[in-house]
Amino acid sequence: MTVLALNGVGKRFGGIQALTDVSLAVPEGRIVGVIGPNGAGKTTLFNVITGAYRASTGDVLLAGSDITQWPSHRIMRSGIARTFQNIRLFASMTVWEHLLVAQPRTGGLWRSVLPIGWTDAEARKRAEDALVFFGLERYRNVIARTLPYGIQRKVEMARALTAQPKLLLLDEPVAGMNAEEADDLRALFHRLNERGLSILLIEHDMPFVMSLCHHLYVLNFGVLIGEGTPEVVRNDPVVLDAYLGTEAA
Ligand SMILES: Nc1ncnc2c1ncn2[C@@H]1O[C@H](COP(=O)(O)OP(=O)(O)OP(=O)(O)O)[C@@H](O)[C@H]1O
Ligand SMILES: [Mg+2]
Repeated sequence: MTVLALNGVGKRFGGIQALTDVSLAVPEGRIVGVIGPNGAGKTTLFNVITGAYRASTGDVLLAGSDITQWPSHRIMRSGIARTFQNIRLFASMTVWEHLLVAQPRTGGLWRSVLPIGWTDAEARKRAEDALVFFGLERYRNVIARTLPYGIQRKVEMARALTAQPKLLLLDEPVAGMNAEEADDLRALFHRLNERGLSILLIEHDMPFVMSLCHHLYVLNFGVLIGEGTPEVVRNDPVVLDAYLGTEAA
């Protein structure tokens, strides 16, 4: 099954054509990467997928359903979760509070939106699972924004996971992390993937991307200029010329 498909997606901001005719797919259970130079349109792609921006042209399909016109909250409740390129944690919340806040509860507004709401006990269980998975137990009651950068990034990923997504979108998850932290995350992403989570990630760290992803797409000036296995992409002269020639691939 294809978890996510984009067909001919374009996005224009005034005079800037940020994406042109982008078609890609994330098959179930795969880790797919999007690479390309600064300003290529990678984050814009995520914003279109999640409904933060409306596509100017083309369609976005989630497990076969056309979500192109759906509001962002509906998309996020339908199996897609994301992390952002820049940290987005609340100023005065503990790690534990961050993990609870992202979850819909039974009753109230969500009763009409979700087929099944989550009770407080279920929400706490999901938060606990995410906390343990990312090894964040000792930071449970710490104000998240006071933690070291690498830990804050993990809090964001844990928060995204509490929604129990089918597809996780990660925008430069290892940016600013050292090699040891990146290795740690690679192992965690592999474990999540083994549990059935599909992942679409943007990353500039080529060794990380090449060792983690099953399939890669390369964006340049909003246009897909290459795709394939890491091996194919690494040796594609067009990609080398536009991007990888300038990166430590
Ligand atoms: N809200 C917006 N309004 C106007 N232009 C935008 C907006 N968002 C993105 N753009 C433009 O779209 C283009 C693609 O930007 P985007 O942030 O998607 O690039 P990126 O590939 O994520 O780059 P980076 O690797 O630096 O994060 C850029 O020219 C950017 O200025
Ligand atoms: Mg970006």
